[in-house]
Amino acid sequence: MRNKIIIGNWKMHKTIEEANDFINEFDDFALSCRDKGIVLGIAPSFLSLEALSVKAKYTLIAAQNVNEHEDGAFTGEVSIPMLKEIGIHYSIIGHSERRTYFNESNESCNLKIRALFANSMFPIYCVGETLKEYEAKKSKDVVKQQLEIGLSGLTGEQVENMIIAYEPIWSIGTGKNASHEIAEDICKFIRETIKELYNQSVSEKVLIQYGGSVKPENVQEYLSCENIDGFLVGGASLKVETFKELIKDIL
Ligand code: PGA
Repeated sequence: MRNKIIIGNWKMHKTIEEANDFINEFDDFALSCRDKGIVLGIAPSFLSLEALSVKAKYTLIAAQNVNEHEDGAFTGEVSIPMLKEIGIHYSIIGHSERRTYFNESNESCNLKIRALFANSMFPIYCVGETLKEYEAKKSKDVVKQQLEIGLSGLTGEQVENMIIAYEPIWSIGTGKNASHEIAEDICKFIRETIKELYNQSVSEKVLIQYGGSVKPENVQEYLSCENIDGFLVGGASLKVETFKELIKDIL
């Protein structure tokens, strides 16, 4: 049985003070969920990472991005050793907003994922197609390529310890979630692709999340999906009451 993992991606929201207020009201709830096999996490801005990492005892705290270089002349970037120093072990990689606004590619995601593993950290690798690709029925081709290139050079042991988030771009921040049939179909396809690239055991262990307009009103519909092990939640993770409500629907 795979654990369930639900991570709130705060994007460029919340000051350090706001992040602290949230975790004060949330961390004990994360403990009660752990007892039920559900891991809860938050990916705040870089600035709030240290405060949350110190405060959160039961909530997994993840970065939203990393730079793959150890150090160097990369103005505005944050390195993996800097994150490790403050107790961060996970990072989202290849979120569609990074791919769209910051020119990240499958190849650059692969460099970041490899650098994370080389430093004993773990990626939450986002994949997913645009609306145009979805309408052209190319979702699986796109996701397959994102997996083949993004995971290139990784061992099975590494892949079984990572999280893959299927986030169709047309459903992110739009209020238009993918139906559970669509989400399960692609998450199942991701698991099959991992089996092809690695083996059955790796494909059965890797955690696969769905993300895109998940909210308390629609989360129930995904619960019967065999291949969805949790959610990457944007908007609905910003208010502690809403995020808790969403999670309570899963418990
Ligand atoms: P959303 O964002 O839940 O606001 O659609 C999801 C994400 O970007 O991870």
